[in-house]
Amino acid sequence: MATTETVETSRNKLAEASDTPLLSMRNIHKSFGSLHALRGASIDVHAGEIVALVGDNGAGKSTLVKVMAGVHRFDSGEYYFKNQPSNISSPSDATASGIQTVYQDLALCNNLDAVQNLFLGRELIGPGIFARRVRRAECEVRAREVLTRMRLGNLSLSRPVGAMSGGQRQNIAIARSILWKPEVVIFDEPTAALSHSAAEQVASLIRSLADEGLGIVVVSHDIHHFVVNSTDRIEVMRLGMNVASLKSADVTGEQVVNAMVGGNEEVNLAG
Ligand SMILES: Nc1ncnc2c1ncn2[C@@H]1O[C@H](COP(=O)(O)OP(=O)(O)OP(=O)(O)O)[C@@H](O)[C@H]1O
Ligand SMILES: [Mg+2]
Repeated sequence: MATTETVETSRNKLAEASDTPLLSMRNIHKSFGSLHALRGASIDVHAGEIVALVGDNGAGKSTLVKVMAGVHRFDSGEYYFKNQPSNISSPSDATASGIQTVYQDLALCNNLDAVQNLFLGRELIGPGIFARRVRRAECEVRAREVLTRMRLGNLSLSRPVGAMSGGQRQNIAIARSILWKPEVVIFDEPTAALSHSAAEQVASLIRSLADEGLGIVVVSHDIHHFVVNSTDRIEVMRLGMNVASLKSADVTGEQVVNAMVGGNEEVNLAG
């Protein structure tokens, strides 16, 4: 039987583990020619949490997540993934490490169906027509598994995604990102251009991924709905730097917007 002391020790270890970020970027600088886009930006992402990255146009949000996803190399700073200095220097490195991105344009092929889109570029393909048919069957089984896990069991596997609604397309893009069991998923504007109910559904899907222990980063301008209601922490960026770190439950949309535009330097409620 475990003594009180060992129980206490394992509790402390657990607390320590959840305090250690899954992914941590510190003091990141990135220039494009003479344009200094990131000037010491930082972000931590823990397993099981949703971190919103907000800021005005040009604040550096996309640049920061592109560095995270291996699209851009950073000039200086520190990038740790699972406590190790990251050696991610391309999008395929990021994918292989367990970091997936759902881009704003979703990068779906409209003329292909859900299964083809889910496996685009990484089809389980073998030689010959027979093998191909078997692979398609395997892909359908895996697609159905992942969609069922996302409670999207009713989504058609064979309709071209171009004929689907914005919300359904967003769901397919999310399904594609989690098919390969990532540990961190980055979303760029997941609720933009969606109806209120489709946005709510995407928000609850993102929450269920966090509940499974994934670390989630969401770039969003949807401050008053998604950001304040459906995330855990908010990093506010301005001119390539972090200007506020907020707990979503503690702030109003107005306070977040004030922090974004520099109207209220007092806002810093994160404990
Ligand atoms: N590939 C690039 N080449 C040159 N400049 C770039 C490049 N990508 C971004 N920038 C510049 O870096 C700055 C930050 O851009 P970024 O796209 O990160 O902003 P953002 O916060 O994502 O803005 P938005 O909300 O409009 O998407 C901007 O001044 C932008 O023009
Ligand atoms: Mg952007």
